[in-house]
Amino acid sequence: MVWDDLYASAFERVRRSIESIERVLLAYNTNIDALKYLRQKDLEDRVEKAGKDEVLRYADKLPKRIDNVPQLLGSILWSIKRGKAAELFVESCSTRFYMRQWGWDELRMGGQVGIMANLLGGVYGVPVIAHVPQLSSLQASLFKDGPIYVPKIENGQLGLVHPKEFNAEEESCIHYIYEFPRGFRVFDLEAPRENRFIGSADDYNPNLYIRPEFREHFDEIASNVELAIISGLQALTKENYLGPLRIVKEHIETLNGKNVPVHLEFAFTPDERVRKAILGLLDNFWSVGLNEVELASIMEVMGEKKLAEKLLLGDPADPIAVTEAMLTLAEKTGVRRVHFHTYGYYLALTDYRGEFVRDALLFAALAAAAKAKLGDVRSIEDVIKAMDVPVTEGAKTVEEILIRKYGMKDGIADVDSYQLTFIPTKIVDKPKSTVGIGDTISSSAFVGEFALR
Ligand code: AMP
Ligand code: GLC
Repeated sequence: MVWDDLYASAFERVRRSIESIERVLLAYNTNIDALKYLRQKDLEDRVEKAGKDEVLRYADKLPKRIDNVPQLLGSILWSIKRGKAAELFVESCSTRFYMRQWGWDELRMGGQVGIMANLLGGVYGVPVIAHVPQLSSLQASLFKDGPIYVPKIENGQLGLVHPKEFNAEEESCIHYIYEFPRGFRVFDLEAPRENRFIGSADDYNPNLYIRPEFREHFDEIASNVELAIISGLQALTKENYLGPLRIVKEHIETLNGKNVPVHLEFAFTPDERVRKAILGLLDNFWSVGLNEVELASIMEVMGEKKLAEKLLLGDPADPIAVTEAMLTLAEKTGVRRVHFHTYGYYLALTDYRGEFVRDALLFAALAAAAKAKLGDVRSIEDVIKAMDVPVTEGAKTVEEILIRKYGMKDGIADVDSYQLTFIPTKIVDKPKSTVGIGDTISSSAFVGEFALR
């Protein structure tokens, strides 16, 4: 039962210290998530109506973006068939209208920034400054109360207000999230795991639109923060990435100049040229967070094709291959911390040592279980209650492999000049939804770690 004890003490430690964090900058992607829990009959009827043969073509090969209804439905089937997440941009007005008419079961805060702002500011009480590309009243209403701020310029002066006080009738950026549980059936397909497909009806976040407040007053904004988390670079394409990434680079350099540690929340970036460009920025980051698919996609553009394949073979992913990939990433880019999460366990590779790295991961796993169970973490009590979710049995083998290979003890080992930290996670059997769990994990672990220092 050693892990149960470690979980309990880690939670207490992080809870006691998390409010010592002064301010976290979160940039760039915030949107509205319209969640639809898929139903078999409804989906089958829609596929038949749109033309089953054509729809099924896209269930085999995802289109690059969504231009019509068969592509939308086919992409949803693509995700169901593999139990894998995917996200595509929807430009076509008629498809946007179709999604709107299809409707949703729930509206939620979306985008890495929005989700992290509500968790850090609204639940942990850590002050955050958030980049919200468009603040409609609906978007504003999804922010929790608490120390969450957006920059506002009045008489040429930078001020910080809660999003609900921003009062600008801007556009609503809506992402339609089609969620399905493990075992969900449609025709002869069956989902091997719960997951979601996302269609983004949003002209701002996918293009990494950066607000004037952030372009013109970044130095002042950066002077007000202790930590920063960057996300939302994933939807850029070779046609539009150069301009936004130039600004992002300037922003990170400004933060570095003020000694603000910056975490990059890496998300699956389909365009290889953009992925390479992001990789080229990594030396400016303190830390990076990713899952197995994302790590494999980085290994691919680093020329490590064999390693990339190995990462995707096992379930859970082979921890030795994962460690090798994390080492390659850290050594080649100089990033100081790599945080890997997968279904069943997390690993962190850091160029510094201490139990606080592990305790922050444990805290993050509790928050993730709460998010999986409830869909939304409302309070720190929700996180405590996740203590009842059992530690997954599936991670035992992973732990044994790491003990044998690296002499790991209580989740900590020395590997080359780094510390490797492992924790088995708590897996919720029937999660309410899957969207946003990764963001919950990465932000809780990164901020938790600095709180414990
Ligand atoms: P991402 O793929 O980045 O959104 O992150 C998903 C992560 O959420 C996985 O790597 C798991 O660590 C975690 N996760 C997914 N499903 C569950 C679940 N049912 N219970 C707890 N954690 C989960
Ligand atoms: C992506 C999606 C957003 C979702 C988020 C969750 O940013 O665009 O809709 O809320 O991922 O991680």
